[in-house]
Amino acid sequence: MDNNNTPKKVMLSGIKPTGDLTLGSYLGAIKNWAERAEQFDCYYFMADLHALTTRNNPADLRRRTREQLAQYVACGLDPEKNTLFLQSHVHEHAELGWVLNCYTMFGELSRMTQFKDKSAKNAENINGGLFTYPALMAADILLYQPDYVPVGEDQKQHVELTRDVAQRFNNLYGETFKVPEPWIPKVGARVMDLLDPTSKMSKSDEIGNGRVCLMDDPADIMRKFKRAVTDSESGAGCVRFDPENKPGVANLMQIYAACTGKSFTEIEQEFSAAGYGVFKPAVGEAVIETLRPIREDAARIIADKAYLEDIYTKGAQKATYVARKTLRKVYKKIGLVEKPF
Ligand code: TYM
Repeated sequence: MDNNNTPKKVMLSGIKPTGDLTLGSYLGAIKNWAERAEQFDCYYFMADLHALTTRNNPADLRRRTREQLAQYVACGLDPEKNTLFLQSHVHEHAELGWVLNCYTMFGELSRMTQFKDKSAKNAENINGGLFTYPALMAADILLYQPDYVPVGEDQKQHVELTRDVAQRFNNLYGETFKVPEPWIPKVGARVMDLLDPTSKMSKSDEIGNGRVCLMDDPADIMRKFKRAVTDSESGAGCVRFDPENKPGVANLMQIYAACTGKSFTEIEQEFSAAGYGVFKPAVGEAVIETLRPIREDAARIIADKAYLEDIYTKGAQKATYVARKTLRKVYKKIGLVEKPF
């Protein structure tokens, strides 16, 4: 409840533990979650079932899932104020995922950009889970009846499909699901690879100099920014926001804006007399200072296994309570016989 005794609006999101969290995961998603705990009832999870759509080393997946939780907390998600849990600990996700598979059309799933991209990249492992992934994601969301789903630009299409599935179900069976809105940040919604500014910075790509991870040390971060691809302009006026013709510079400006809170105009003025040799290290420095406290806190929290276990136990208990209520309602509406025990 808020101060006026009206129920708080609900916010929910998740991240797949398929790789080390990047600056993209932080600026596009987590940073925007951390500021909302007072205002919203917030649920954030590690999408470990989603991670299974690509092959993982089991020990790495387990380690990364715990590390991701520690990084959520280090990024400012207070476990007392946010419900933090593992997707696989709340089996209602898999159950509602199956049901929603039956209300999501083959044609809709075939149009998903992420499916097309991922199947092109992993031609040897185009599994059924990769294809039906958005139905599980719809279940993740709809179980908690959220008002908003804060995600980066690349996940907007999945949230829109979730809305369509929710509306379809509601039309058939009467009001069952709240139809949520995607919440996309104004800056940082699409952080691009530093060496290839036409493709997204991704945590599951090969480790390279084009992506910055939350746990990178400052010297590595600075090196990556000094090598970031820009263009052949130089000298005064070369730092200006023109995503179409200057994608590398636009990406660096987005990152700088998201880390410092400055507008693009302010950034252009700040660097009006400078070349890339000054601008790139300045962006590196801003990122180093943004990530420093996160890296230090995460390293401390990762070492405390009991604390992490306590967080995800309490989180799963609270999440299960809410998820079960929605799933019961769904089972009843579609005609499944109620379980008597
Ligand atoms: P995932 O794990 O690929 O990414 C997690 C979140 O980080 C955002 N993001 C980025 N934002 C800006 N720039 C980037 N380079 C960048 N890379 C990632 C993503 O948009 C996302 O918000 N299917 C989801 C996980 C998921 C989920 C859900 C999200 C599963 N169930 C329910 C919301 C609600 C995914 O693969 O995100």
